[in-house]
Amino acid sequence: GRSGGAGAPGGGAGTQDGARRSSAWFGAEGRNGFIHRSWMRNQGFGPEVFDGRPVIGIASSWSELTPCNAHLRDVAEAVKRGVWEAGGFPLEFPVMSLGEPLMRPTTMLFRNLMAMEVEETIRANPLDGVVLLSGCDKTTPAMLMGAASVGIPALMVTGGPMLNGKFQGRDIGSGTAVWKLTEEARAGRMSEADLAEAEGCMSRSRGHCMTMGTASTMACLAEALGMQLSGGAAIPAVDARRYALAQASGRQAVELVRRDLRPAALLTRAAFENAIRTNAALGGSTNAVVHLLALAGRLGVPLDLDDFDRLAAEVPVLVDLMPSGRFLMEDFFYAGGLPVVLRELDEAGLLHGEALTVSGLTVREETAGARCWNREVIRPAAEPFRPAGEGTVVLRGSLCPDGAVLKVSAASPGLLRHRGQALVFDRIEDYVAAADDPELPVDASTVIVVRNAGPRGYPGFPEVGNPPVPKVLLEAGIEDVVRISDARMSGTGYGTCVLHVAPEAAVGGPLSLVRTGDWIELDVAARRLDLDVDPAELARRTPAQAPAEPAATRGWVKLYTEHVMQADRGADLDFLVGGSGDAVPRHSH
Ligand code: FES
Ligand code: MG
Repeated sequence: GRSGGAGAPGGGAGTQDGARRSSAWFGAEGRNGFIHRSWMRNQGFGPEVFDGRPVIGIASSWSELTPCNAHLRDVAEAVKRGVWEAGGFPLEFPVMSLGEPLMRPTTMLFRNLMAMEVEETIRANPLDGVVLLSGCDKTTPAMLMGAASVGIPALMVTGGPMLNGKFQGRDIGSGTAVWKLTEEARAGRMSEADLAEAEGCMSRSRGHCMTMGTASTMACLAEALGMQLSGGAAIPAVDARRYALAQASGRQAVELVRRDLRPAALLTRAAFENAIRTNAALGGSTNAVVHLLALAGRLGVPLDLDDFDRLAAEVPVLVDLMPSGRFLMEDFFYAGGLPVVLRELDEAGLLHGEALTVSGLTVREETAGARCWNREVIRPAAEPFRPAGEGTVVLRGSLCPDGAVLKVSAASPGLLRHRGQALVFDRIEDYVAAADDPELPVDASTVIVVRNAGPRGYPGFPEVGNPPVPKVLLEAGIEDVVRISDARMSGTGYGTCVLHVAPEAAVGGPLSLVRTGDWIELDVAARRLDLDVDPAELARRTPAQAPAEPAATRGWVKLYTEHVMQADRGADLDFLVGGSGDAVPRHSH
């Protein structure tokens, strides 16, 4: 069993709490205690750090392969200042990092692997609390999922968005500009030289995407969930106040340990409902749906796909940010940031204001005094940017019995009720190769279906659900068509794209039975997506198989494909649902 815990010296200044988790290591007597302390002293720590003070891990997803997180070592230094200041002992450690711009075949293939690494690293080490440093899309949910499955006190500091992109005198947004500018170049309205110049103008400071894409969405939802200090999500990565916030977060992590305030006390059903409504008010990413479902699963909080539709249906979009609107995260921060949005929701009766946050105060106490400095960027609930129900909706029907999602604010109003004939592609690569073909048999009513791009089919559930509009249509001035897939879409993407179709084609969902020429009916107001094919005819069809990919025979991809759940369950692995706690009864020596 553990040695030394109850007999650990010290016990944290001014507190009466007995043994800390870390004391089982650093407070141990005999051979094991010698080992735990002696090696740590090679870093120049004196013996006083082992006096029973809270040991605060700083989990860093720093990586130069994840440009959005490349500054997190500096953020970690600020967190450490705060931990020391409050009488704790900070220890920074690396975890896997997931960067959208480079990783193949998709970061989503690895979100659960990163969550496992976060979980196991926290549990295996003498930590009393942990500060989670994230930024790029998947790093935020992976950190929260891993920490939740351990359950020790935890707090998140996201790395903050980049400054606004500035190109030829106007603001351009991460991701959103890529889709728009490359389509302009394809349509012959923009030169290659201008496109090359835009590369340097879009990403011009450290930080994550500064649109309301998945990274900004998840940073805001971490704040709405109560896991990040109030106001933290929107501060630009290069703003001095982010480092002051990081230092305050370090101090607060020590306080969380002293008060034994754990994620399970914060991440309640009420907190998830707040996050879902916040996502709707932000016009946030469709990816929030899968990440929140997966996180709720780790905590045993009941949450399903229909909760997203029901809760979001009452919430107007308050924030005028790309990709749904005009502005960017820098503007959002100067306008007052997320506290203003939370206050608006609370005053409209759309927030559980009593939900607790990592500050120890409720979300209402944190945000009641939030002032808005720019009503164009953050609208009042009484005069919203878009009316209620224009966020992410959940569709059901014969083509998606277990659900699908569509982001109304990113879609074309004229396509929200649509009947058209399918043009089906078994592989996204086949569609991309055909998209510029002048002979492609499409018109404005065509419904483009791309399948075998789900969690198991790709594998990894990539962001290919907003494939380019066929060039013949672009040249004819048609900028959007209905697209349906079992894939996800970048949080910065837009278009009338039905995503996350479940069950996916690769597990034999109805999507695998669609043939080119079939009629498909989309009715967003009725939340329906139906395949208008006679059931007897469907029963005669055999599912289209994806052209043979070599199936994974070893390693992570094998484990993932054997255990990944469908989109409506958050695409977590089946054996990662729940948590294992923080206890490790056995020694290493
Ligand atoms: Fe990392 Fe967008 S690519 S946040
Ligand atoms: Mg993204």
